[in-house]
Amino acid sequence: MPPRRSTRSTATRRVTSAAESIPPRPTLRTVRDAALSCRACDLWKRATQTVFGEGKRHARLMLVGEQPGDQEDRIGRPFVGPAGQLLDRALEAAGIDRARVYVTNVVKHFSWEPRGKWRIHKKPRAREIAACRPWLDVEIQLVKPIGIVCLGATAAQALLGSDFKVTRQRGTFIASSLAPLVLATVHPSSLLRAPDPETRRRETDRFIADLRRVARAMSKRASDHQEKDA
Ligand code: URA
Ligand code: SF4
Repeated sequence: MPPRRSTRSTATRRVTSAAESIPPRPTLRTVRDAALSCRACDLWKRATQTVFGEGKRHARLMLVGEQPGDQEDRIGRPFVGPAGQLLDRALEAAGIDRARVYVTNVVKHFSWEPRGKWRIHKKPRAREIAACRPWLDVEIQLVKPIGIVCLGATAAQALLGSDFKVTRQRGTFIASSLAPLVLATVHPSSLLRAPDPETRRRETDRFIADLRRVARAMSKRASDHQEKDA
């Protein structure tokens, strides 16, 4: 019998992590460009384009969502659809300028399934989240934010551990090697799904309060450092 061909030869091995696409001595620009052609999981096949993070090179605050939605997929920018518009209003209410924030997602391609003529958001799988993780890690490494806010359970569990419970631990600072101030809160799209206007208002206020808590902790930290340096 002829020897069986290895199914894991270099030629046929499937790439399962974006790690090997990260350019040497990465910058935000080269990383973003490299991510445009990422094929490390299957999500690119049904998506329009890679939706990479966006924001200032040394933004002090980073927001991490789950994955681009329908509009983000079409436009190519994170948080520009209905959830993004709600996020913008909440940031403003919390006194945070979105232009100074780096906004990104755990997964960079839109995961969806058809329902009639609609493309319905489908939660990314663990292996897709793992495959995409190197992009987020390099974003964190390059931006080096003081504060990171995880928006929703997918981001919180990806960054803070699979046991993380947003319902119980939201709004509290979590010790993490990722940044000095790390906190998780709900995803803005959960506010859009609130069952009634009263719940929506209450939950939106809690969401704004979480963002405000981060903003306050960041400015306190900045002034403490200034005092130390003085
Ligand atoms: N939801 C997310 O998690 N990210 C986006 O960019 C848009 C909607
Ligand atoms: Fe690559 Fe992430 Fe897109 Fe998968 S979702 S193809 S890992 S960029």
